[in-house]
Amino acid sequence: MIIIKSASEIESMRRVNQMTARLRTALAEMVRPGLATLELGNFAKNMIREMGGVSAFYGYHGYPGQICVSINDEVVHGIPGGRIIHEGDIVSIDTGITFEGFIGDTAVTVGAGEISAEDQHLLDITKASLDAGIAMAVEGNRLGDISHAIQTVVEDAGLTVVREFVGHGIGRSMHEDPQIPNFGKPGRGPVLKAGMTLAIEPMVNIGVAKVNVLDDNWTAVTADGSNSAHFEHTVAVGKTAPDILTLV
Ligand code: MF3
Ligand code: CO
Ligand code: CO
Repeated sequence: MIIIKSASEIESMRRVNQMTARLRTALAEMVRPGLATLELGNFAKNMIREMGGVSAFYGYHGYPGQICVSINDEVVHGIPGGRIIHEGDIVSIDTGITFEGFIGDTAVTVGAGEISAEDQHLLDITKASLDAGIAMAVEGNRLGDISHAIQTVVEDAGLTVVREFVGHGIGRSMHEDPQIPNFGKPGRGPVLKAGMTLAIEPMVNIGVAKVNVLDDNWTAVTADGSNSAHFEHTVAVGKTAPDILTLV
C-alpha cells in the first residue's frame, strides 16, 4: 500500500529531508585524500545529534554505521571504518535521519582530488539519470515512467543499472511501498498521486550490472571491480511538478 501524505506531513518530511541534505552536503565537502571513512561517520554522528535527530541507518537490520560510505567499486552500504580515501577515488555517501517521526534519505557521489574522465562521466550520467527519474514524479504518470527514464539515460551512455537494489517509498518508515527499480517499462505500474513521497536512487556501474556482498554482510561491490556511483533524492509527487525535499 502506497501511503499518501497530507500537506502537513509533506512539510514534516521537508524538514527532516532538508536536515539530511545539509548533512549530505557537509560530508561531501569533507571528502579529500587522507581522510578515513570513520571520520565521516563520526562527523555525521555529531551533526545529527546537534540537529536533534537520530541516524535512520544505525541499527537498521543491525547496520553498524551512522551513514554509508562506499568507495570506487563499492556500490552501496559501505560501513565507515579505517579505510583511507585516496586521490582519484570516487566516494558515495548515503545519509538518513529520523526527526519527529519522519525519515529523510539522500545520497551523492563525489571525487577525492582529481578523478579520471571515465569516473567523471559515471558521476555525470548517474546524476542525470536521477534528474530524469525525478522529472517523471508528477501526478498521473506511472511508476514505470520513473524507472524507464533512469534506465534510458544510463544505458544510452553505455553504463549499467544495478538491479539488486531499488528506490522506495519513504515516510514514517525508511522503506515503504512502492519499490522503485532503476529499470522498467514506461506506462506500467501504479499511477502516481500527489502526496506520495519517493526516494529515487539510481546505482550505476561502468562495467557489469551484477553486484556481490562482502563478508561484512553489508558492503555491495561490483562483480567485475568496475566503479559505481549512487545519487539519491527524496521527492514528493506533485500535481504539476516534482517537489524535491532533499535540497539544501
Ligand atoms: N539509505 C539506504 C537507502 O537508500 C538504505 C541504507 S540501509 C542501512 O535505501 F542499513 F544502511 F541503513
Ligand atoms: Co539512501
Ligand atoms: Co533510499
